[in-house]
Amino acid sequence: MAKAHFSRIGFILAAAGAAVGLGNIWKFPYITGIYGGGAFVSIYLITVLLIGFSLLAGEMMVGYKGGKDAVSSFEIVAPKGQKGWKYAGFMLFSGLLIMTFYSVVIGWIFHYIYLSVTNNLPTTMDIADTTFNNLVQISPITSTIWHFLATVFVAVVLMGGIKAGIEKANLILMPLLLLILGGLLIYATNFDGFHKALVFMFEPDWSKINSEAIVRAVGHAFFTLSIGIGTMVTYAGSMSKEQSLFKAAMWVMVLDTLIALIAGVMIYSFIFEYGAEAGKGPGLVFKTLPVILTNMGTTGIVIAIIFFIALAFAGLTSAISLTEPSVEYFIQRFNWSRKKSIIINTSLYFIVGVGAILSYTTAYGSTFSIGDKPLFDAIEFTTDSILLPLGGLAIAIFVGYILSDEDRKEILQDRVNPKVYQVWLFSLRYVAPLAIVFMMLNNFGIIKI
Ligand code: PFF
Repeated sequence: MAKAHFSRIGFILAAAGAAVGLGNIWKFPYITGIYGGGAFVSIYLITVLLIGFSLLAGEMMVGYKGGKDAVSSFEIVAPKGQKGWKYAGFMLFSGLLIMTFYSVVIGWIFHYIYLSVTNNLPTTMDIADTTFNNLVQISPITSTIWHFLATVFVAVVLMGGIKAGIEKANLILMPLLLLILGGLLIYATNFDGFHKALVFMFEPDWSKINSEAIVRAVGHAFFTLSIGIGTMVTYAGSMSKEQSLFKAAMWVMVLDTLIALIAGVMIYSFIFEYGAEAGKGPGLVFKTLPVILTNMGTTGIVIAIIFFIALAFAGLTSAISLTEPSVEYFIQRFNWSRKKSIIINTSLYFIVGVGAILSYTTAYGSTFSIGDKPLFDAIEFTTDSILLPLGGLAIAIFVGYILSDEDRKEILQDRVNPKVYQVWLFSLRYVAPLAIVFMMLNNFGIIKI
């Protein structure tokens, strides 16, 4: 059977669906809050444009030419005598590892949809703390049930394959997500807080920036664009050769950035309108926002419902893209049926995910730790600080140095303006690797600026 391909818009929405996730709507706003707003946003934007885009396009190139799972695509695209580069494709397993906690967080969002619909969202910050802690620390069974439902959703969509599964889910969920976030942003323009949010997000106060903020911005650029785990290789493997790769990559970057900025401005409009604090960390969306919304009465509850639904959509389209690379790998390399591959892969991350849930639970004593970190944090640290940057480095070296100029130009089919090509290549060969090495050394405390 011939391999199914995405339609043009299908590819852009699927790749944007991969990129736009919890990273955009949950993480980006709160880390912006921690690092003080505008200056952090500026560094993030520069990083996405300079480093993120070059790696995103580079990663897509491997799949575009290879046309298969990540491991096979690296093998096919690698020049003769350098086929060992296929091992770079093993970056796809980072996706499964990310899923062990990503699916748990999607489960929490399901729980908050449930709390909104049943009008049980917290009304004060103290209650918000208790509500969240009850879910995360006291009641692993609730978390596990929601985590299971998230897993089943991903499995069902993947069962439909590229066209009827992944493309269709993204064609429905992504426009809905844009509509909801756009609608909420328009609603927020009525607030005085809207103007304050704009100033907070876009007026840089450089005194708030330190090396940690820079490292977080670079790291987040990877995570948000889904770089370095083989997702973009795998999706581009089903891209039509008629489609311009650079244009598609640009669309993905623009949509991803736009949605992060919309989410940030929208959430901070509410925060400032109701005098809440900006730098509260991960609880921003699960604690601060719900308290504000419940205190707004019925309108607030309705907003809470659609907001958490949008957050779930964003998370689910990314979850699909985190799982598909491994699913496709076992289909192509081990001849597994799609069904078998999906069941085994999703079961694997589901089980480890239960370990991650238990690692936060105080009810049974916290036994699931690695070193001094709960399993949940240990996996997040390993993927965020080690595996994703390593994956990005592999892409930069492979596309920037191992492929020849002819190889690259052949893949891009002369569709790229020569000046743009030069800037892109410079960034891929020099800027991206340096930034990655700097970030990793910093993460391990080897250098501190
Ligand atoms: N980009 C997603 C987010 O911002 O939430 C997370 C993610 C998805 C990371 C897919 C990596 C990936 F391959």
